Amino acid sequence: MKKILIINGPNLNLLGKREPTIYGNQTFEEYFDTLQTQFAEVELHYFQSNHEGALVDKIHEIGFTFQGIVINAGAYTHTSIALADALSAVTTPAIEVHISNVHAREAFRHHSYLSSRVKGVIVGLGLRGYELAVRALLEMSIVNSP
Ligand code: DQA
Repeated sequence: MKKILIINGPNLNLLGKREPTIYGNQTFEEYFDTLQTQFAEVELHYFQSNHEGALVDKIHEIGFTFQGIVINAGAYTHTSIALADALSAVTTPAIEVHISNVHAREAFRHHSYLSSRVKGVIVGLGLRGYELAVRALLEMSIVNSP
């Protein structure tokens, strides 16, 4: 079975409570349950951390064996060369997701250190972006063969 890991960075553990007008009312755990039902043919895993190094460690841990990564690095998107280097270091292809339209927000959210290291970016489509990213990884055959 193909293994895809969804990685959420800092403050995304508060989805559902955090600025609901921007990020919606649903917790990621609830959403993840529906994703797992939708993609029964895939082993979907989920990892969230507020710590940059823990996110780097996780990418190293699965980045040579899993077939795809969907990453929303939260604010580390705009600051982390370490996460960008981790995505370059591994062989598993990744797609970057942002729930909100970062380009319609503050200027500091317009630059991503990760975008040049991933296959594609999905921005501003809410939680649906994660589903589209998994679908793209599968349909475009950009996942590594198991
Ligand atoms: C975010 C956008 C980032 O700018 C912000 O720091 C987040 C969430 C998004 O999903 O829209 O934490 O990645």
